[in-house]
Amino acid sequence: MFDSIFNRKGTGSYKWDTTVPDGLIERGAYPLSVADMEFRTAPEIREAVSAFAQKGFFCYTDSDKEYRDAVREFMLRRHDFSIENEWITCVGGVVFAINTAIRAFTEVGDGVIIQSPVYYPFRNSIENNGRVVVDNPLVRVGASYEMNFSQLEELAAREDVKLMLLCSPHNPVGRVWTKAELERVGSICLKNNVILLSDEIHFDILRQGQSHTVINNVDCAFADNTVICTAVSKSFNLAGLGTSNIIIASKSLRERFRRQLSTDGYSCINSVSRPATITAYTSCDYWLDEMNAYVDANIDLARSIIAQIPQVEMLDCQGTYLIWLDMKGLGLDDDALDKFLQNECGIIQDPGFWFGEGGKGYTRLNVACPRSVLEAALLRLKAACNKL
Ligand SMILES: Cc1ncc(COP(=O)(O)O)c(C=O)c1O
Repeated sequence: MFDSIFNRKGTGSYKWDTTVPDGLIERGAYPLSVADMEFRTAPEIREAVSAFAQKGFFCYTDSDKEYRDAVREFMLRRHDFSIENEWITCVGGVVFAINTAIRAFTEVGDGVIIQSPVYYPFRNSIENNGRVVVDNPLVRVGASYEMNFSQLEELAAREDVKLMLLCSPHNPVGRVWTKAELERVGSICLKNNVILLSDEIHFDILRQGQSHTVINNVDCAFADNTVICTAVSKSFNLAGLGTSNIIIASKSLRERFRRQLSTDGYSCINSVSRPATITAYTSCDYWLDEMNAYVDANIDLARSIIAQIPQVEMLDCQGTYLIWLDMKGLGLDDDALDKFLQNECGIIQDPGFWFGEGGKGYTRLNVACPRSVLEAALLRLKAACNKL
């Protein structure tokens, strides 16, 4: 199911078409970049979307009871997360929701905490809305990262800081935060009246033996202070349908968020994402499990090849299908590294510096692709590094 190789050129894909220099893929390079998968979504979802399309009505659509029931039951079944239908607000994507939350919960000039290196739209969303990035950089410890809690305490206590964006699991460093770590983050935010937006979009994509804790499950007191971003997009490879489910238990936070959403002009959900989401959340757990097992084996393969490249270090990956490689041993600046990966290795990457200062000299590779393609790309990397 996951070994098939598809050429997605000509589909309007970010990864294959619009962000790739002309001719690069034709010359044999392979995109291990943008965070969607090279796997077709589950057959049940494809069938549900086809059947819906055949009806021929792409009308104004709401997240009705059937939709919300599917989301609620999935949260309980897969994440032991008990929610009420009313807590769910549908939005056209998690990045959209982050922007809405920034406007709903902060004023121009307020500070918003992030922990870099982190998914770069976090920083952009804060700056584009005239708010101030308050960075609490993650600390590299061996082949992994930790949060700097003492600095977080200080930053959260600042008068101007009103919101924190937590990435959980963390893109790009692949951490699945422990319950103890989440306890500390949640408590610091609660104590300082800093609203905590927990972006849990990667929560289904976990490496073997890892388990994700939804922030509200750490301590029930957190529910008054959190906005949890979820979606079918990463889990079932449905990003192009542009739908996310934002879960807000607090009535007052929910009302503020929805008022802002209405000001932003967002009302109905994508009509195609309704059958896709219902089917994904009711009938496709098996696909998620098989996809995770396949990605686990890809990560093992990546680790074994990269261990043979002295200049490159692969960091631990606990969650997501993204690997974070320390390439500093190659001694190349960011531009030279990008050219080396593209031209000498045939790899289209997401450069580490996009994710913040601490990402300089790193690269993020997406390993949710057919194993043979990944192996070929990493062997090209190994051969090119040997030649340097
Ligand atoms: C942490 C994180 N949040 C949000 C998104 C994008 O979400 P959406 O497509 O729903 O805007 C991504 C995509 O890579 C991501 O990694």
